[in-house]
Amino acid sequence: MTVTAVIGAQFGDEAKGKITDVLSERAKYVVRTGGGPNAGHTIKLGDTSLVLHQLSVGVLRRGVTGISGPGMVIDPFQLEVEIADVQSKHALHGTLVLSDKAHVILPHHRSEDAWEEGLRAKGYGVENGTTGRGIGPAYEDRSGRWGLRLADLDRPELLRRRLDVLLSTKTLPPGLPSVDELTAQLLEVGERLAPHIQSTEPILWDALQRGDSIILEGAQSALLDLDFGTYPYVTSSHPTAAGALVGSGIPPQELNEVIGVTKAYATRVGAGPFPTEDTGAMGEALREAGGERGATTGRPRRCGWLDLVLLRYATRLNGFTSLAVTKVDVLGGMDSIPVAAEYEGPGGARMSTPPTVAEDYDALHPVYEHIPGWPEFTPRLKERIRRDGVHALPSELKRFLAHLTEATGVPVEWVSYGARRDETLFLGRGKTASPVSRWSA
Ligand code: IMP
Repeated sequence: MTVTAVIGAQFGDEAKGKITDVLSERAKYVVRTGGGPNAGHTIKLGDTSLVLHQLSVGVLRRGVTGISGPGMVIDPFQLEVEIADVQSKHALHGTLVLSDKAHVILPHHRSEDAWEEGLRAKGYGVENGTTGRGIGPAYEDRSGRWGLRLADLDRPELLRRRLDVLLSTKTLPPGLPSVDELTAQLLEVGERLAPHIQSTEPILWDALQRGDSIILEGAQSALLDLDFGTYPYVTSSHPTAAGALVGSGIPPQELNEVIGVTKAYATRVGAGPFPTEDTGAMGEALREAGGERGATTGRPRRCGWLDLVLLRYATRLNGFTSLAVTKVDVLGGMDSIPVAAEYEGPGGARMSTPPTVAEDYDALHPVYEHIPGWPEFTPRLKERIRRDGVHALPSELKRFLAHLTEATGVPVEWVSYGARRDETLFLGRGKTASPVSRWSA
């Protein structure tokens, strides 16, 4: 029995969904623990490509229960569209369960998201670049303790009272449904989703008692964490290992593994610090080669190089026990790969930890080391890796992975070299140094 958290080690879009999907082969439960329709977990099943926003990838596997967990904010209307899409592709093989404690994203949350972005643009000169899905405002109402939860959707009177209080806190633009309309719409959608809505924490506690394997499927990523990310350019949840526990109701001591997922390079969507961003031709080439466009918004992603300062920070924050390195095929054919080892600050001072204030990143420059590149990932090379495993990995790539292990103290156990399930290689169990020895050097 294991409880494994799969956590993004960068700014999102590291292919956490794909790694979770591969791991779900040996799991009984997969739980989304935070965020909502801002996520876009892309899964390639044969010729079919699926993008899951609010559903856990567990729903795609026969014998697996995919839970959209208590830490999430869920847009029930969009969720229905998503369920219909997965069903139309004949991919809903698992059991779908929605936590009754997940909060509800309402139409006005999207309007507020746009309005808040306007305020930021005016004050900071730049928007956050949110996905526009109402995530921040829904979490704000949760903290205000006047939010709605899925559990409220089958109680007409209580729902109406809750909506009255909630909407009395807002000045809403015209064009949104009235309280009566919204109450009716929510009761209807609640009735349709009712067969899936349950208290999910007892399900997971029973699973722990039976010794079933559980995967906590992180969404967004450590560097977008509300407290530890590049505030205020962050999301409104806690996409960390600790957040995955809070967002699922699993006790901390039950967590066995934390897999940090990182691309072999880096991307970011939206505004905020990105020290290793390459705004030139190489960045453009990465975007092309990696197909780097937002799975939720379609926005072009900002592209750049792996940043070991941030990766070490994410490692310590989450207690990664292993790393999964994805999209290594995208870098195939490069002579050398830049990797930021540390930052140079004002006056030439070297820094190995990131600053707290986002604006302070402007005064930093990454100090790069250049690691020898590996050959192109031709279909023939991919075939050899599928057949011969780790022995067929280019030696330069092995050195790159060893370098990441050395820099973080954490073994690279997974390598992903394409979007398909079978383009994922397990390198074997590595040894994680204890947190103390790992960082005392
Ligand atoms: P929000 O989560 O929509 O409020 O967006 C806040 C910030 O997090 C924006 O910069 C988004 O681009 C970013 N973000 C949110 N979700 C994701 C994701 O799943 N992948 C990458 N970036 C994300």
